[in-house]
Amino acid sequence: TPLKNGTVSWESPSNIALVKYWGKKQNQIPENPSISFTLEACKTETQLTYELRSGNQEGFSFDVFFEGEKNEAFKPKIETFFKRIEAFLPFLKQYHFTINTANTFPHSSGIASSASGMSALALCLMSVEKLLNPELNTAYFNQKASFLARLGSGSACRSIEGDLVVWGAHEEITGSSDLFGVKYNDLVHPVFKNYHDTILLVDKGEKQVSSTVGHNLMHKHPFAQNRFDQAVEHITAMKTILASGDLKGFIALMESEALTLHAMMMTSMPYFILMKPNTLEIINKIWEFRAKTGLHVGFTLDAGANVHVLFPENEAEKINEFINSELVAYCQNGHYICDKIGFGAKQL
Ligand code: PMV
Repeated sequence: TPLKNGTVSWESPSNIALVKYWGKKQNQIPENPSISFTLEACKTETQLTYELRSGNQEGFSFDVFFEGEKNEAFKPKIETFFKRIEAFLPFLKQYHFTINTANTFPHSSGIASSASGMSALALCLMSVEKLLNPELNTAYFNQKASFLARLGSGSACRSIEGDLVVWGAHEEITGSSDLFGVKYNDLVHPVFKNYHDTILLVDKGEKQVSSTVGHNLMHKHPFAQNRFDQAVEHITAMKTILASGDLKGFIALMESEALTLHAMMMTSMPYFILMKPNTLEIINKIWEFRAKTGLHVGFTLDAGANVHVLFPENEAEKINEFINSELVAYCQNGHYICDKIGFGAKQL
């Protein structure tokens, strides 16, 4: 008997790249490998209801509800996603889907919800696939969920598992692939356990440059090939750092990656400055504090003005104090999110 109707639910986290993905080829293939921390608090919860359709099944049939309200704005992105993944999920047109989705972080926070949102949806669709094919094992399930999520938003493929994930083929990372993210299974020093990421919301507005536009700017970028080669070397360097627990090296590599990402945008044509004055104020304060105290606080950035402040658990008390007394003042309406390294998506 065919699967008629039902509901599946997943929550899936956001992630923050330490070595950045910036630049892609056809079919969401990354130009360079990247590695990220999976987050814990910033996540999307998605409920997918499926109903077997009758009659002719031309086109996809779905409705989207975002935070309880019918949402038309997300439909084109999901339609594109469905088109890309149809070949890998042949049941897609046989069902009408109702997608109910909500984020744990405020919608207009400048935090990209594409990684958590696309991975949550990919996982829900995999649950339907699993109901149709109960013999699928967990390894295959996760790998295919990541593969599908990648086709929604590249970085989303790094949100299925935790706590560290590599996406993009790299000689020194066993099992790594351009097609999906893999859990980082090499040695990780305990200092990275419970690592903190406090996200300072400097600018909660719409992204100035969509990541699609940003990735495309790497196509004719004069420094592109050097950047891609550098990322490969940075993965190797990060591997050594993660194993040894060298926090100074960690911070230097992570901050350099963030500034390189922004440098790529400043040196593309057209060019963009995605940092705001308060982004720079925060960076300078972090550098001053680090020089003064020797504590291991560092930052990274995504393609926007918000600052991710990363630090180890055993220094959290003093660094939290510093964040509260000196950095929060630069946040829009004083808003920030305390997050931590997390362990990946969960079925609800
Ligand atoms: O997943 P996309 O296409 O939105 O690209 C995101 C790229 C960065 O967040 C800037 C870097 C990264 O590796 O996550």
